[in-house]
Amino acid sequence: MDNNDNHGEFYITTPIYYVNGVPHIGTAYTTIVADTLARWRAAQGESVVFSTGVDENAQKTVDAAAKTGEEPHAYVDRMADIWTSAWQKMGISYTDFIRTTEERHIETVNDFWGRMDAAGDLYKGTYQGLYCKGHEAFMKEEELVDGLCPEHKTEPELVTEENYFFRLSDYQQKLLDFYETHQDFVAPAHRFQEVKSFVEQRLEDISFSREKKEWGIPVPNDPHQVIYVWADALVNYISVVGIERWEEHPADMHAVGKDILRFHAVIWPAMLMSAGLPLPGQIIANGFLTVNGTKISKSLGNAIDPLDLVARYGNDAVRYFLLREVPYGEDGDFSEAKMKERYNADLANGLGNFTARVLTIAEKTSVPDGKLDDEFATTIRAMQKTVTAKMGQLKFGDALAAIWTAITFGDRYVNEKKIWEIKDKDELAKVLFNLISLLEAVSRELVPFMPETARALAAAVVHKDGSIIVKKPGILFPRVK
Ligand code: MSP
Repeated sequence: MDNNDNHGEFYITTPIYYVNGVPHIGTAYTTIVADTLARWRAAQGESVVFSTGVDENAQKTVDAAAKTGEEPHAYVDRMADIWTSAWQKMGISYTDFIRTTEERHIETVNDFWGRMDAAGDLYKGTYQGLYCKGHEAFMKEEELVDGLCPEHKTEPELVTEENYFFRLSDYQQKLLDFYETHQDFVAPAHRFQEVKSFVEQRLEDISFSREKKEWGIPVPNDPHQVIYVWADALVNYISVVGIERWEEHPADMHAVGKDILRFHAVIWPAMLMSAGLPLPGQIIANGFLTVNGTKISKSLGNAIDPLDLVARYGNDAVRYFLLREVPYGEDGDFSEAKMKERYNADLANGLGNFTARVLTIAEKTSVPDGKLDDEFATTIRAMQKTVTAKMGQLKFGDALAAIWTAITFGDRYVNEKKIWEIKDKDELAKVLFNLISLLEAVSRELVPFMPETARALAAAVVHKDGSIIVKKPGILFPRVK
């Protein structure tokens, strides 16, 4: 899937989120996807570096701080805590959290800038353009609607200033050649097609600094300029591991949203080429979530609080819903009605009920380790094969569906055998051995998707001296109304 030879190591990242907002279901989705892939690789025995963090050097940080009356440094400290604590509550297994005001990042950005400069790719020029702070990017006249940014509903600021430019135009052919030889560089494939078409048209040089700003990383040797926030933010992926480590082992995967794919699949690779550094293995881009059919945005104020959701349904249920319901790469809709429906059908009735039926009887029965019936062995193998194949294609919903096929198979077996009526001890032990083994296999497959449930199931079944000791867990998924 990834293009680097990794010696059992896997480095995956999320975007670093702007600190002028708090986590919402959209940012949580990107993070959950990355977390699932990180856990999946770890379960394959790889040693995983999984980084996330916050993007603090944007100009809109200063505005947001002014609004709350805080000094910008105090503001970013407080907001960074909000992000780390949200991910912790949601059980995100990140191994590193990067903040762009950290010294290790500033040093790396300085080093990186120096490399691009040494390559002759930075030059000074005059720029005039319409800057949208919401995007932290210049916009084209034709992108505006009634003079306003259609996404942020604000009027971009007309900026005329001396800036450093990055010779992005020089990288058009190099990027196209790279794409040609790295067929999986962007996934899903239709997004890669969009990137290629964009680069095939024409690449313009891009302004890489802003004049006379008090917030941001100063351009080395030119304190009147600060580095453009994207030129700074993208480098975070290197700051996490350090330049030397990146040279040996760049990120295997950047998980991003479709809105920032160009920054990751066009500008970032060109920057890395300029700096003489290796490129990441793959950029994967998720689509956008809406809530009850409307766009999520901080400014529009309909952002769903993921912490409120997990408090009511649990982390695993929220993960399950998003991964099962939204085909990766496509836009999806979050509605609580749909979430409830899936929760009750697949979790409370499906997995929860199956587990309870099997373990209630198993707890009271002595079950020796035995031999699986063929149909169980076949079902388990088919599930494992499908999950592996689907994970390689980022088809999380299909992977989960394969696990649920196995659960349904087990449930049907419980009914057919009427396990609550079996009187013969050997027969009951044999039937339960099949079912417990299936449940164990299911729980192993659930590790990346529903880690808390997988842990509870694993703890419920212990093998000791040739027999199986079961302690039924509490109700995994209480029904919701
Ligand atoms: N700071 C930049 C990223 C720099 S990475 C070097 C940024 N931050 S952001 O806070 O706006 O978060 C952007 C990411 O959050 C999106 O790319 C996407 O991954 C995720 N999402 C934001 N809104 C989303 C939805 N409505 N739906 C799905 N994902 C969303 O851009």
